[in-house]
Amino acid sequence: MVFIVANWKMNKSQAQAVEYIHILNKFSDLNKHINVLISPPSIHLPVISSISDFPLVAQNVSHLENGALTGEISAQMLSKYVKHVIVGHSERRQFFLENNFFIKEKIQMCFKYKLSPIFCFGENKNARNKGNYLDFIKSQIQEVLFDFDVAKISSLILAYEPIWAIGTGNTATALQIEEVHTYVRNLLILKFGESIGFRIPILYGGSCNSDNAVEILSNDHVDGLLVGGASLDASNFINIIKIANEFSSNRF
Ligand code: PGA
Repeated sequence: MVFIVANWKMNKSQAQAVEYIHILNKFSDLNKHINVLISPPSIHLPVISSISDFPLVAQNVSHLENGALTGEISAQMLSKYVKHVIVGHSERRQFFLENNFFIKEKIQMCFKYKLSPIFCFGENKNARNKGNYLDFIKSQIQEVLFDFDVAKISSLILAYEPIWAIGTGNTATALQIEEVHTYVRNLLILKFGESIGFRIPILYGGSCNSDNAVEILSNDHVDGLLVGGASLDASNFINIIKIANEFSSNRF
């Protein structure tokens, strides 16, 4: 089933968030054929989870269980409100210096509390231009995921987010997306076996919007979209989920 995830990042007051969810709830029947997930700032999760017809996603999680970690939120705390957590987003790698080792610990915490991680990976512009982007991606995936056993990995969702495409309006081309998604799919199959390797959803994120959603989703190797900027306006996002819904009903 196709996943469409709205990543609001650090946007919206509580009143704006509530208003958005009330509008979105009118379209809850669209969630029958696709999985629509909403990722608000963590501070809004208690309020939003009490009114949302759509499952929620946390944007971050602590790498540790509890303790003296000012400002952090644990997997156990989040598990009351969400089923998923975005982990490894390039903005966290860039601004908060999160590395593969740290991200792996966060994923470990997600698994411990039965949260499904949405693990983001993707190359920067330099690796893309130099041509070594597949190696870049391979080490992200190997270092973060390859020590987990198959049973845990089965709840994982991946999101290919080329850093140069995030918030820039430059979506990766169909060929670029296909190349990376096929490459990653094969890595997963080789490491975790066919039945799990084929099943792990691989989403695409990076300047997705209602104009390019069909083209990106038409790629056989894309299992959904992680939408940032274009998810902030409720009617824009509803257009994307309508498109994904129509696309899914024709495809399956
Ligand atoms: P964008 O963000 O859609 O604004 O490019 C995507 C993301 O960072 O998840």
